Amino acid sequence: PQIGHLSGLGNMGAPALNLLKSGHKVVAYDVMDSSTEPVAEAGAEVISSPSEVAKNAKRIITMLPNSSHVQQVYLGNNGILESIQPGSVCIDSSTIDPAVSQDVAKQSEQKSAKYLDAPVSGGVGAAQAGTLTFMVGGEKEDFDIAAKILDHVGKNVVHCGSVGTGQAAKICNNMLLGISMIGVSEAMNLGTKLGLDPKILAGIINTSSGRCWSSDTYNPVPGVLPGVPSSNNYQGGFGTALMTKDLGLAQQAASATNSLTPMGSSALQIYRMLCEKGFDQKDFSSVFQ
Ligand SMILES: *[C@@H]1O[C@H](CO)[C@@H](O)[C@H](O)[C@H]1NC(C)=O
Ligand SMILES: *[C@@H]1O[C@H](CO)[C@@H](O)[C@H](O)[C@H]1NC(C)=O
Repeated sequence: PQIGHLSGLGNMGAPALNLLKSGHKVVAYDVMDSSTEPVAEAGAEVISSPSEVAKNAKRIITMLPNSSHVQQVYLGNNGILESIQPGSVCIDSSTIDPAVSQDVAKQSEQKSAKYLDAPVSGGVGAAQAGTLTFMVGGEKEDFDIAAKILDHVGKNVVHCGSVGTGQAAKICNNMLLGISMIGVSEAMNLGTKLGLDPKILAGIINTSSGRCWSSDTYNPVPGVLPGVPSSNNYQGGFGTALMTKDLGLAQQAASATNSLTPMGSSALQIYRMLCEKGFDQKDFSSVFQ
């Protein structure tokens, strides 16, 4: 089958490479020419607009930075819906406002096409290794079509419910992650001030009830774990600007549903402050500093 793959070929182009490896034909588009070079070398056909992709493929994957880009790529000039073929299935792996996912799904439906939200977790490393988790929102029969493709690029492909629930799962996970990283930073800082060796404290938390991913796998204190951003001047990993964006989406969703999220709200303010202080491109575990 022919699969269209749009954008996100820069940081997250590996899924397109994995599709090529599994024998799919891929047509690709990205606003940045440099981003399409690796997939072109691997055999993808590079074309000139989202609309051209929709003309050439009925299975379309998009991965874009924010809600505005998704609206532009699907609904704008030379956008996907301009030339989408009936029966097409679009899989959007962007992390965006669930309300935007639902709107794009509705407009796709009017063109007899399907749209599923399928945000990912795992980051660049997991993309290369083909071990991403996809959280997918959409009708079951469309999910089954999408899962056949996503199984080649991810390890866990989970059906979360109707359109928008993939975004909901992603936003809730990342809100918790943002909060827990601040909590671990606070505890590690206090312990160090009290005279504890951070490695000993991390080891104790690791086998005690305070344990979480932020403490045992991605500890924010330099030198505690090898190979994580905190031990590499907070380079690589998941940028503070991206964490701030996801916490903003969580607050938007909380307002839309009248949900109480005092910790998520505080976390957003803390990461926003970090961005102001010039940490926006550093890994979000730099909140420890
Ligand atoms: C998306 O990012 C662009 C910059 O690339 C910015 O101008 C726009 O306001 C952002 N939109 C949303 C909804 O965050
Ligand atoms: C926590 O435990 C895991 C598994 O035993 C180990 O790989 C990791 O290095 C430990 N992390 C810390 C911070 O001690």
